[in-house]
Amino acid sequence: MRPVLLVASALWGVLRADAFYLPGAAPHDYVLGEQVALFVNALTPKLMNGEDNRLKSMINYDYYNPKFRFCQPEEGPIKQPESLGSILFGDRIFNSPYKITMLNDNRTCQTLCTVHDVTGEEAKFINDRIKEDYELNWLVDGLPAATMKADTRNGEVFYDQGFNLGNYDAELQSPPSLNNHYDVMFRYHKPTPNTFRIVGVLVWPSSIGGSQTEHATCSHELSVPLVLSETHNQTIRYTYRVTWNESDTSWATRWDNYLHILDPRIHWFSLINSIVIVVFLCGMVSMVLVRSVSRDISRYNAIDLSEDVQEDWGWKLVHGEVFRPPQNVMVLSVMVGNGAQLCAMVAVTLVFALLGFLSPSNRGSLATVMMVCWSLFGGIGGYISSRVYASLGGTNRRKNSFLTATVLPTIVFMIFFILNLCLLIAGSSGAVPFGTMLLIVLLWFGISAPLSAIGSYFGSRKGAIEHPTRVNQIPRQIPPGPKYLRPWSAALLSGILPFGAAFIELYYVLTSLFASRAYYAFGFLALTAGVVTLTTATVTILFTYFILCAEEYRWHWRAFLTGGGSAFWLFGYGLFYWATRLSLDSLSGVVIYLGYLILLTLVDFLATGTIGFLASYWAVRRLYSAIRVD
Ligand SMILES: *[C@@H]1O[C@H](CO)[C@@H](O)[C@H](O)[C@H]1NC(C)=O
Ligand SMILES: *[C@@H]1O[C@H](CO)[C@@H](O)[C@H](O)[C@H]1NC(C)=O
Ligand SMILES: *[C@@H]1O[C@H](CO)[C@@H](O)[C@H](O)[C@H]1NC(C)=O
Repeated sequence: MRPVLLVASALWGVLRADAFYLPGAAPHDYVLGEQVALFVNALTPKLMNGEDNRLKSMINYDYYNPKFRFCQPEEGPIKQPESLGSILFGDRIFNSPYKITMLNDNRTCQTLCTVHDVTGEEAKFINDRIKEDYELNWLVDGLPAATMKADTRNGEVFYDQGFNLGNYDAELQSPPSLNNHYDVMFRYHKPTPNTFRIVGVLVWPSSIGGSQTEHATCSHELSVPLVLSETHNQTIRYTYRVTWNESDTSWATRWDNYLHILDPRIHWFSLINSIVIVVFLCGMVSMVLVRSVSRDISRYNAIDLSEDVQEDWGWKLVHGEVFRPPQNVMVLSVMVGNGAQLCAMVAVTLVFALLGFLSPSNRGSLATVMMVCWSLFGGIGGYISSRVYASLGGTNRRKNSFLTATVLPTIVFMIFFILNLCLLIAGSSGAVPFGTMLLIVLLWFGISAPLSAIGSYFGSRKGAIEHPTRVNQIPRQIPPGPKYLRPWSAALLSGILPFGAAFIELYYVLTSLFASRAYYAFGFLALTAGVVTLTTATVTILFTYFILCAEEYRWHWRAFLTGGGSAFWLFGYGLFYWATRLSLDSLSGVVIYLGYLILLTLVDFLATGTIGFLASYWAVRRLYSAIRVD
C-alpha cells in the first residue's frame, strides 16, 4: 500500500503547477536579512513602442565602460560565469555595489556613491546614449529588472525588461536628463513563514537634479531633472530606495508577467494568413499534380490496341534525361548536406522550445541549444551530402566529405569574425571574447567535422539511390521555355508563398534579434516553420513539374533555387526593416546589421533550398517510376 501512496503523491507533486520546475531553475530560498545579489548586464539600445520609433544603435556597452562613470563595487568589477549562448547574445554580467538584504531597509533613501569630476566629454557620451534610448539591464536571482507597463489594448499589467538610462524627447527639444535615482521594488513570495523567494523586480528610474552634494532626499517630485553639461566638470550622485512588496505570485509562475505577448491577435492573424496560403496551395497542387499527373500516367501506360505509334508528349519525353547529373554536383551536394544539418538543428531547437526546456531563466539557452545541435547533427549533413553526391554520379567522395565538413563553418566564421572586428572597433562590449571564439572553433572543427566525416562514411557505404529510368547517351535539345520558368524568375515567384506565410512572425523575430525584445511565442514560431516547410516543398514540386512539362530536364539546381527563393524575399524584407525601423548613423552599425542579415539569409537559403531539392527529388522519382518506358 505504501509504495502506491508514494507514487501517487509524487505524481500529484509533478502535476501541481507550483511543484513543476524547469530544469536548472530550482528556487533560491532566502532567509530574513540574507544578502540579495544584484548583477548588472550590458546596456542595450531599445526599440521604443510606437509606430514611428526607430532603433538607433546596434551596439551593446559594458556597464562598467569607463565613460559611463557608474558606481563601482569596492572589490572592483568581477565578471560572472555565463553560458556560450548567453555570451554570443551579448550578455556581459558583473557584480554591483548595491547592498541589499532581504526585507531590510524598506523604503529608506540610500546613496550608492557620488561620482566627482565627470568631464564634458564623458557627459557627451552619456547624453548620446540617452538620445539613442539605451537601457540598463539588472539581474536579481535570475530575474531581469523591469519596468511596469500596461498593455494599451486591454490594460493588462506586464513587466518590460530593462529600464531607461535617461529621458529624452526629440520633439520637445529639451536636453536629455540622466536617471540617477532608482526606486526598486522587490516582490517576494512567502511559501513558508520563514522563507522568502524573489518573484519580481521592478524599477522606476528618475532624474534628480539640483545640488549633488547636499543630503540626499530621493524625492524627485520637487526637483528639476539632472542635465549633464558637455562643457565643464560636474558631480553626479546616485541614489536608490528599495521597497519590499509581498506577492501571491509563486516561484513557478514568476516569469509569466515577463512573457507577455504584446498583441496575440497579430500572431493569430499571421497564423491564419499562413494557413490560408497552405490550404490554397494544397488545393492547387492537388488540382494540378494529382489530377493531371494521374491522367498523364494512365494515358502513357494505356495499351495501344490499335497499334498506332503513340506520340509521346509532356514530361514523359524527358524520361531519358531527368536523371542526367547536373553541373557542379559537388557544390550542390555540399549545399544540400549543410542545409539538411540546419533543418535538423532548427527542428530540434523548436521542439526543445515547445517543451519548455528553453526556460528564460537559463539565459542564452536558445543559442546554446542551437550551437550544440548544429555540432551534433554534423553526421546528418555528411550522410545526406555523400548520398546525394553518389546518386548524382559524383566519384570524389573524400573531397565531398571534406568540403561538407568545412566550407559552411568557414564562411560563417569569417563573417562572424568581420562582425566581431566591427564591434571591437566601435568599442562595444558585444564583441565575443577570444576564449569563446576558440570554444566555437573547437565545437565546429572538433565535434561537427568528425561527425560529418563519419556520416559521410556511412552515406557512401549505403551508396547511390536507384533511379527508375535510364539516362540516354546523347542529351536532348531543350526547347525555349516560358519566361516565368527561367531560374531566377521561378525562384522569386515561388519564394513569395513561403515568405508570405512567415513575414509577420519574421517581424517579431527580427525585432527580438536586433532590438533586444524578448521573444517567447515559440508555439507560433513552430507552426510558422511547419507551414514554411510545407509551402516550400509543394511550390518547388509544382515548379519542377512545370519545367519538366516544358521539356526542360535540368531540374536539380532549379529545384534548389526555387526552394531557396524565399531567402531573396527575406533579404529584401531585411532592407525594408532597416529603412522603416532602424536609423543607424555609424558605419559599424550598418556593417553589423548587414552582416547579420546576410548570415540569416544564407541560413534560410540553404535550409529552404534543401527542402525544395529533396522534395523535388522524391517527386521526380515517384513520377518516373509510375510510367512504363519501352
Ligand atoms: C575635470 O576632471 C578631470 C578628471 O576627471 C581633471 O583632470 C580636470 O582637472 C578637471 N577639470 C577641472 C576644471 O576641474
Ligand atoms: C515596506 O513599506 C511599505 C510602505 O511603507 C509597506 O506597505 C510595506 O508593508 C513594507 N514592507 C515590509 C516588508 O515591511
Ligand atoms: C504592492 O504591490 C501591489 C500590487 O502591485 C500593490 O497593489 C501595492 O500597492 C504594493 N504595495 C506597496 C506598498 O507599494
